[in-house]
This record gives sequence, structure tokens and C-alpha cells, in this order.
Amino acid sequence: MVFFISMKNLEATEKRRTFGIISHPDAGKTTLTEKLLLFGGAIQTAGAVKNNKIKKSATSDFMEIEKQRGISVATSVMAFQYHGKQINILDTPGHKDFAEDTFRTLTAVDSVILVIDCANGVEEQTKRLMEVCRMRKTPVIIFINKLDRDGKEAFDLLDELEKTLDIRVCPLTWPIGMGDRFQGVYNIYQKGLNLFAANKTKISEEVVSFEDINNAALDEIIGEQPAAELREELAMVEGVYDGFDRNSYLAGDVAPVFFGSAVNNFGVKELLDTFCEISPSPRGRETDTRFIEPSEEKFSGFVFKIHANLDPKHRDRIAFLRIVSGRFERNQFYYHVRSDKKMKFPNPTSFMAQDKSVIDEAFPGDVVGLYDSGNFKIGDTLSEGEKMMYQGIPSFSPEIFQELENLDPLKSKQLDKGVRQLIDEGVAQLFIQQPGNRKIVGTVGQLQFEVINYRLIHEYGANCRFVPRNYFKACWLTADDDAEIERFKRAKSNHMAIDKDENWVFLAETPFLLSMAEQDYPKIIFHKSSEFKLQRTD
Ligand code: G4P
Repeated sequence: MVFFISMKNLEATEKRRTFGIISHPDAGKTTLTEKLLLFGGAIQTAGAVKNNKIKKSATSDFMEIEKQRGISVATSVMAFQYHGKQINILDTPGHKDFAEDTFRTLTAVDSVILVIDCANGVEEQTKRLMEVCRMRKTPVIIFINKLDRDGKEAFDLLDELEKTLDIRVCPLTWPIGMGDRFQGVYNIYQKGLNLFAANKTKISEEVVSFEDINNAALDEIIGEQPAAELREELAMVEGVYDGFDRNSYLAGDVAPVFFGSAVNNFGVKELLDTFCEISPSPRGRETDTRFIEPSEEKFSGFVFKIHANLDPKHRDRIAFLRIVSGRFERNQFYYHVRSDKKMKFPNPTSFMAQDKSVIDEAFPGDVVGLYDSGNFKIGDTLSEGEKMMYQGIPSFSPEIFQELENLDPLKSKQLDKGVRQLIDEGVAQLFIQQPGNRKIVGTVGQLQFEVINYRLIHEYGANCRFVPRNYFKACWLTADDDAEIERFKRAKSNHMAIDKDENWVFLAETPFLLSMAEQDYPKIIFHKSSEFKLQRTD
């Protein structure tokens, strides 16, 4: 029996907007985040968010990176009020070695803003992040940044977005010139002219209403030739792109596009205003038993991120819980489904930009930090008693595989415990190979191996080393006919392993061997992510 909740909860849910900003490093994610926070009054000075960024120069020094990640805990969720909405921005690490963190955070948002550098167009990291959004049908708004610099032509950029990201686009603003000749944008959606002024502090933007683009006043304001070009381009836009349709955006089929310059605070207000108008309020989520609506009375949520404290004096970790339904309350007992235990949380924390504070209640769309001494795993569900698990915290095939060797047999218990906890936190993936119980650790970046080594020594007193293993991909296997998988497992027994959830995984050594396997076993699907579990058969 499903009960629906009070008006208060409903209103609180309706006004929330929970999203993530994603980009290839250096496209302007941090700058845009900061400007949004300035608009929301959550910070007063420029530069406040900068510390959060993991600098590229720090790649060789992971302690430095961890220090910076420590800072980023405080800004893991940046919440502010704007135009009657509560905006929750979930921070995503820009560093590619932490891409898995970002993928998981994307399970906790309801929409994303993708930042593109107008000179570089679609870059590698953009593609990967968008694949995840496309898989989950997450609504996307695109902000094309750095128009104050010379870059690719607007039409070329839109073409590139459609082709490489496999999504239709719909420009809602249009740039007038670029680089030195950049004069501002025409707002197609609101029919207004927003003139560019390089201004790093201004937080208001005047849009001059301009219903009729053929009005001669346009020539006076931006000059005859730019006006002629703009009219021509807008006519083409109208011919090529469909008008904006909110439902197509919400379905993840069409991405509205804005042009601007984050560092100059230009185009940001238009983006934020439109975002508030069109973006989705908190959505429900699929569990292994049924779909949970945010409007349900009973509280439920899932853990999508765990942040460990590297300081050995403070071993506590923070588990980040996304609330999906009902109202979360401090000091209430909730049901931890995986361990079948009740738990209560005296100090749930919210992260309001730079402030951390204990909260008494939270609603769907909110993220709360729960202090944890090792009970939580990524993907865990909390409920008011219902036995169900939220689906779709994906594991992606790692890029780097190394075998873990114990260097101190007397400490093998500590090693096992340490490895298990690090895997629970999502630092890396573990595949156990038989015979011999060999542990293959897989990560997205080299950096994680340094993190693991350091933490095993300092937190668990275990000593190990990593021996590179030449694998290309880990593939999760499904088939209509279980016998087919059994046949495959027998044939490839040297390359089979079990993941943390006891799923069978094929470790393919090269792209060639993987495509051979796909050819030889056409009835088996080789999944590059564990997301296949989302696909329910009913
Ligand atoms: P990221 O988080 O996506 O990695 O990018 P971030 O915001 O840090 O921006 C990367 C660089 O691009 C920064 O310069 C930033 O100032 C610059 N930038 C952001 N938006 C714009 C824009 O609209 N126009 C121009 N011209 N530059 C922009 P930096 O030199 O790396 O850092 P900083 O010294 O300015 O802090």
C-alpha cells in the first residue's frame, strides 16, 4: 500500500532542483558554479569555489589531491535559494581519474548542465559523461562558454554536439559575433537582446526586449553588418532546429543550448532563469521491486558517494545520501536494507556552500551527509522498513587492471578488511579470479593505486604491491540462456572473475579478443557497465 504525503512535503519537493555541472576540465565548470552561487547569494566573493578544483599539476602528488578533495567535501552539495526554488548543485570532480565518482554522482541528480569550451568543442571527457546521461535519459542543458574568445562557428558547434553526443539540440540564445567582435546574445526564447559587457562582478543582466528582429533599431545598437548577419543566422536557426519543446528536454531527447562567458558573468543569469523554469523537480527512482515516487509518504534514499577521512585520528567517513521519497528526520530509526538493521543518525549534515550544518529534516532531491564508521557501501538503500534496493549505481569497466599481492602474510586479515572497505567506498573495483583467489583491482586512473597503497599502509597496517595485468576491459555478461554463459565460462575460465556483487565478469585482454568472443558467442551480451541491471524484464 502506498501513501502519499502532506502538502508541506509536496511543496518542498516541488521547489527543489537538484543537478550537476559537467565538463571536460578547463571548459569553465568551476567558474560557472561560482557565478551561479553568486546569483544565489550563497557566496559573496569571486574565487571562493576555486579551491575546490584539483589542479592538473598535482597529479603526481596524491596527498595534495586528497587535501583538495577534503576541501571539496564541504562543497559536495552547494545549495541556495533562487526565485522561490531551492537549487542543489552536486559537485562532480573534474579530474579524470575520479571519473567514477562523477558517474555515481550523476545517479543522484535530476538534470545536468554541460559546459563546452567554444574553441575546443566536444572533448573526450564530455563524451564519456554524456554517455552516462544518455543512458539514464537525464535532461541536459548545454552552456557554450568563452564566447569572449575566438572559437568555432556556432552552427559548427551545434553540428558537432548533435553528431558526437547523439542528442538533438535547440539553441535558446544566439551569439552576436565572437572573440573581439563578441557583442552579446539574442535570446530566441524570450525575444530579447542581451549586450555583452566584460564585467567580473556584476550580477544582474539587462535583457532589452526585441520582439521584432527586423526592427531598424537593431542596426543602430549592434551595427548594420552584424545585424544583417544575425538576422540571416536566426532565419537559418528557425529553418534547421525545431522550436523548444519542454517534454523533449525532460525526456532527455533534446538539449537546449545557451551561449555566454562564465568568467565575465555573461549569459549566466539567462541560463539560471531558464533552468529554474524548465528543469525537472526531483524525480522518482527504480528499485529492485518497484518504482518509488518522490511524493510517497515514507522516507527512502540511497548512498551514492562515500568520503573517507584520511586523517588516521578521525577514521569516520561521510556517506552521501540522496533522498528519493518522504521526509528524512534527524534521530529517527531507519532501515538499512542490505544489513537488515535499524540505524539512526544524530548528526545528519547539509552542505550549504561553505557551511556545514546539522539538519533536522530533508526532502526529496536533498543530499545529506551521514557520519559513518564503516556500515555503508555505495549503492546502499535506507527506508522506513520496506525491503527494496535502489538500482543503477553503475560500475563501469575500469581502464587499468593490476593484481594485488600481499607483502606481509601475517597481515592478510588487515589487507582483506582494508581492500573490502576501499571497494565499498568505490575507490576501485575488485575482481576475484579463480583458482587461487587472485585479486585483480581495476581503476579508471593510475592515481587510485597510489591512494589504495597509501591508505592500506596508514589505515590498516597492511602492505601490498600491485603487479600490472594486461587487460583491456571488464565485461558483465547476460544471455537469455544461462547454459550459454556456462559454456562461455568453461571455455574462458582463465579470464573469468567475480565482481563485488558476485556477478561473473569476462576480463578481455585486447579489443580483438573481445570482438572475437562477441562473434563466437552471439547469444551473450557483453556489457561495459553494470548498468544492465537497470533493465528490468517486466
Ligand atoms: P573547469 O572547472 O571546467 O576545469 O574550468 P575553470 O572554471 O577552472 O576554468 C578554466 C579556465 O578558463 C580558467 O582560467 C577560467 O578563468 C577560464 N574561463 C572560464 N570561463 C571563461 C570565459 O568565459 N572566458 C575566458 N576567456 N576564460 C574563461 P585559468 O587561467 O586556468 O584559471 P584562473 O587563473 O583564471 O583562475
